[in-house]
Amino acid sequence: MKHQLHNLIISRRSIRLFKQKKIPLGIIKKAVNAGRLAPSAANLQFLEYLAVNKPQLCEKIFSFTRWAGYLYPRRMPPEGKKPVAYIFILINKAKTKQPDSRDIGASAENIILSLLSQGIGACWIASLDKEALIKILKIPKNYQIDSIIACGYPAENPKLETGSKKIKYWLDAKGRLHVPKRPLKNILYLNKMK
Ligand SMILES: Cc1cc2nc3c(=O)[nH]c(=O)nc-3n(C[C@H](O)[C@H](O)[C@H](O)COP(=O)(O)O)c2cc1C
Repeated sequence: MKHQLHNLIISRRSIRLFKQKKIPLGIIKKAVNAGRLAPSAANLQFLEYLAVNKPQLCEKIFSFTRWAGYLYPRRMPPEGKKPVAYIFILINKAKTKQPDSRDIGASAENIILSLLSQGIGACWIASLDKEALIKILKIPKNYQIDSIIACGYPAENPKLETGSKKIKYWLDAKGRLHVPKRPLKNILYLNKMK
């Protein structure tokens, strides 16, 4: 069981191409439930979530998102590969004056990993036209959009690269995404740093 969780965590990659298959609402609810149970500084729990799965709304939301900046516009999901649902991470401003970004990170990663454990791929997106989204989704004034999680059954299988010195992900000739990560030996220090 412990081993399975570890493998799930290290196998997670951002997914930007999706099958056009509906996600059962129960899967989304389970993932958001994992998100709400994440650690929270002073347990303020200022995060709330808006799930969107209506196709017309998803289409509109998509037009206000930006994908894979290093490859733009080559990894924009094309027609037939777009997300089929979104989870909005919202800050309820009445619950805190200074939202701690660590709460957001912990909650978002819980959601993404829970989705993955249920067979759903996701991409966390912060490059957004938030003003436009607030309008179309009728988000009240006391809420702020932090970011969104785009979801769907995966239609790509990005490859982890650890040997590369690059940080920019790239596409190979077959259109497969390669995602470089800095090797453990370069970033983990033991006891003293020098
Ligand atoms: C806070 C945050 C915001 C992100 N925003 C975007 C985004 O707007 N568009 C996008 O395509 N990917 C976005 N990503 C995904 C990153 O590009 C991705 O995590 C990174 O390239 C590493 O790939 P991996 O998630 O497969 O490990 C975001 C990731 C994080 C953590």
